[in-house]
Amino acid sequence: MTDAADLLDIARPLAIEAGELIEAMRDSVDLSGDTKSSSVDVVTAADRAAEAFIVDRLSVLRPDDGVLGEEGAGSEGTSGVRWIIDPIDGTTNYVYSVPSYGVSIAAEVDADLALGVVSEPVFNRCYSARVGGGAFKNGEPISVNTDPSVETALVATGFGYLAERRRRQAEVLVDLLPQVRDIRRFGSAALDLCYLAEGLVDAYYERGLHAWDLAAGAVIASEAGATVGDLRGNAAGEHFTLAAHPALFEALRAILAGLEADDCP
Ligand code: IPD
Repeated sequence: MTDAADLLDIARPLAIEAGELIEAMRDSVDLSGDTKSSSVDVVTAADRAAEAFIVDRLSVLRPDDGVLGEEGAGSEGTSGVRWIIDPIDGTTNYVYSVPSYGVSIAAEVDADLALGVVSEPVFNRCYSARVGGGAFKNGEPISVNTDPSVETALVATGFGYLAERRRRQAEVLVDLLPQVRDIRRFGSAALDLCYLAEGLVDAYYERGLHAWDLAAGAVIASEAGATVGDLRGNAAGEHFTLAAHPALFEALRAILAGLEADDCP
């Protein structure tokens, strides 16, 4: 069974329950936790527990599927379905109790993204979409803001964990900021894409995302009417992700390509 609607029925409660799990663990988190790619890239016991919870549940419900998780889960599977899991996207916010963090679960069918769910436990929000089925927040349809101009666009972005990448990302921002309404840095790529999908911001871009940061939010943003891609006419990915209403996407793509925003460590 690889029907995206059925898979979404599995993913939605999983993301919500994993969100409840990380909320239950939040009081025991401290700022001196482990780090990963750099000294500022934090990982907590809650990241590991939430990933284990999701992977364990999937291994019972969908034993033949593959998984890819931020905290190390990885298996090939034989069914053609692969789950892509970020147990806490926005871990820095989580350890500081800043609300924008969530659980992100996507599924590919035969290597194509088919669905995504992002739960935002502090606010009891759950964003979801499957390809061709529209995007929803707590069951209500959502859509991107239509046709904002660059000058009036509220643009979300994010920064990687490596110092050299951040230096270059800041240089791009220096040139972009005077051209748009303002910039937001919420601290969770998955939620940036969901906020775009419901019109809280007009656009989102970032260099350096991993598949688990991007996959679920990309389906939700596209199903809400955004174009999601890189700066050179290809699919979004680690090299670059830009998402916005199609007209704004093209205008921002030209500006960011001119700034060589994807030419970055
Ligand atoms: C990070 C967040 C952040 C983005 C980083 C991601 P994590 O994910 O999505 O907003 O700027 O690029 O790595 O580490 O919190 O799962």
